[in-house]
Amino acid sequence: MSFTAGADAYDRFMGRYSVPLAPQLADFAGITAGRRVLDVGCGPGALTAELVRRLEPDAVSAVDPSESFVAAARQRHLGVVVQRAAAEQLPFGDEAFDAALAQLVVHFMADPIRGLREMARVTREHGVVAACVWDHAGGQGPLGVYWRAVLELDPDAEDESQLAGAREGHLGELFRAAGLHEVEEGVLSVDVEHPSFEEWWEPFMLGVGPAGAYAAGLDAGRQAQLRERCRELLPAAPFVSTARAWAARGLV
Ligand SMILES: C[S@@+](CC[C@H](N)C(=O)[O-])C[C@H]1O[C@@H](n2cnc3c(N)ncnc32)[C@H](O)[C@@H]1O
Repeated sequence: MSFTAGADAYDRFMGRYSVPLAPQLADFAGITAGRRVLDVGCGPGALTAELVRRLEPDAVSAVDPSESFVAAARQRHLGVVVQRAAAEQLPFGDEAFDAALAQLVVHFMADPIRGLREMARVTREHGVVAACVWDHAGGQGPLGVYWRAVLELDPDAEDESQLAGAREGHLGELFRAAGLHEVEEGVLSVDVEHPSFEEWWEPFMLGVGPAGAYAAGLDAGRQAQLRERCRELLPAAPFVSTARAWAARGLV
């Protein structure tokens, strides 16, 4: 999946969930001062910002294949070296980091096992590789209501439930297949308040990720139908959206 949307659109659509998720993934991975850490699939930098808060900027490196996100991450996180690269081919030597993290990225990798192997290669022996992916298969991620409404109206639509790591236990399987040791799994969860239905819905119209791409491909009538079905499925505003992510960590 290539992300061509701008950073501001990403912030409004997914950043509202990934920013509060970042400290949880960093805690789960045991990131504390003194480590050198790689943020894989950094996007505009939700996790990068959390890593910089815990470490010095020059202890943090980040990569992403999206040109617009790399530009935004460089601008937002001065002192962090941000490079354009995919997880499957990381531009670093062996054992360059103490830890490599991927927040909401494994499900978008063309080859998740190869990507995780690369993350392990650039991490020192006994260092940590950690990742998380929304629970798209269980419908408990931030897009659960949206994909439910889509499938009611268009049963042939392709949602994100089949993607790598999106079902319970699958991230752990991928970590073990990539050769990581002492793999442990966990659940991360964020609560995000939505002041109005429009504030929840409008970012779906910005074309970000598979959900945004699907909405952008609908004509105005079908978009309106989808919006109204989402409104029916959601609680009355203001409401809190609780989003759950599967997490896994392993040692090199
Ligand atoms: C949902 S965003 C997550 C961004 C950021 N980590 C966050 O938590 O907000 C998914 C990111 O994965 C990136 N991505 C897609 N394929 C990738 C790959 N093969 N390797 C690394 N990153 C990839 C996208 O460009 C996008 O920035």
